[in-house]
Amino acid sequence: MGKENITMIQSDLAVIILAAGKGTRMRSSLHKVLHPLGGRPMLHHLMDTLGALNPVRKIIVVGAGKEQVEKSVGDQAEIVVQEPQFGTGHAVQVTRDQLQGFSGDVLILYGDVPLLSAATLQELLTKRRSELDPAVVVLGFEPKDSKAYGRLVVNDKGELLSIIEHKDASPEQRAIRLCNSGIMAMDGARMFDLLDSLDDNNAAGEFYLTDVVAIARDKGYGCAVTVATETEVIGINSRSELAEAERIFQNNKRQEFMDAGVTLLDPETVYFSYDTIIGADVVIEPNVFFAPGVTIEEGAVIKAFCHFEAATIRRGAAVGPYARLRPKADVGAGAKIGNFVEVKKSIIEEGAKISHLSYIGDAIIGAGANIGAGTITCNYDGFNKALTEMRLASK
Ligand code: UD1
Ligand code: CA
Repeated sequence: MGKENITMIQSDLAVIILAAGKGTRMRSSLHKVLHPLGGRPMLHHLMDTLGALNPVRKIIVVGAGKEQVEKSVGDQAEIVVQEPQFGTGHAVQVTRDQLQGFSGDVLILYGDVPLLSAATLQELLTKRRSELDPAVVVLGFEPKDSKAYGRLVVNDKGELLSIIEHKDASPEQRAIRLCNSGIMAMDGARMFDLLDSLDDNNAAGEFYLTDVVAIARDKGYGCAVTVATETEVIGINSRSELAEAERIFQNNKRQEFMDAGVTLLDPETVYFSYDTIIGADVVIEPNVFFAPGVTIEEGAVIKAFCHFEAATIRRGAAVGPYARLRPKADVGAGAKIGNFVEVKKSIIEEGAKISHLSYIGDAIIGAGANIGAGTITCNYDGFNKALTEMRLASK
């Protein structure tokens, strides 16, 4: 919301997110694009990235599981149903009613390719808007293993001539290293005209979106390529690819925090959420997990084996080892939470200590108070939760 108010809406930019594939390999009752990465559905990572570009239209093409996607995005995007699914070209064709008369640029994204950066998309758009006025600009990459990706056929001037799907490619074409991420920018004024020429005369019997390149060339239009890193365009089709994407996401976060002055003793054992906030000079020992909604202020120390969820740890506090902070735990400046302590919806004021084996819920612990080992608040009578307040007598 906030971002939309700051950035001006780009009235000449529409985005289509394809998400109508069956997602069979996830073996899940949850729609593939709603599986979380860093504690947030992958589709929302994409929507957030788009916040920076602020397109005038956001259209999500879905098949099965439409209700789930609709519920998750609310009024943040328009939903179009593609049923049945005749391929990626067909998936874009079904947005025709929505984009009637739209002559700006159209960005085609995929709900299962969530780690793209706004800068990469901006570069793609800049190329589309360059003097050459290409009808199509494709985002390519050079994967370590070319697997079954479409191959980009480029001439020596760097112009894109065609995209050959793996299934249809000759051995020579399969040797091409530059592959199709699937992501592209098209000139909206020419897009449906190009799509009208698609056919399903190919190895998969589908309407390939990738054929728009050769079609555009036939009509005398230019096509171009920009290049991304493999980690940015990773697609998620299975639980193991989901785990791989999570690994990339976590490594990016760890690097980001270390660059910002956070010490991680063993980075690979600390897991962040998309919205984790950590101040400078915080030290985090091994094996710590951040669920969404956590803020840690400057100079706090997090000892090993802690689990945090929607909690705040203020300046110079020390937490752990083995502490669990649940929603609305607010640990004050210089306060200390020790081993096997669980805190929920409680304010622990400045300098207070809860050092051993305690459950503190729905409570206020006054500044400087020292809570003895094994203390629990039991404030629920089966109907109401009462507030517990413990303060130093002198305060
Ligand atoms: C596609 C590209 C290929 C590229 C690869 C990158 C085509 C023809 N091929 O192949 O060049 O290297 O992606 O991963 O485009 N979808 C729909 N409706 C459909 C079919 C697909 O919405 O009818 C969506 C899927 O949900 C998925 C995406 O489009 O997110 C890609 O579809 P998929 O069938 O996986 O394409 P690939 O064969 O991987
Ligand atoms: Ca795919």
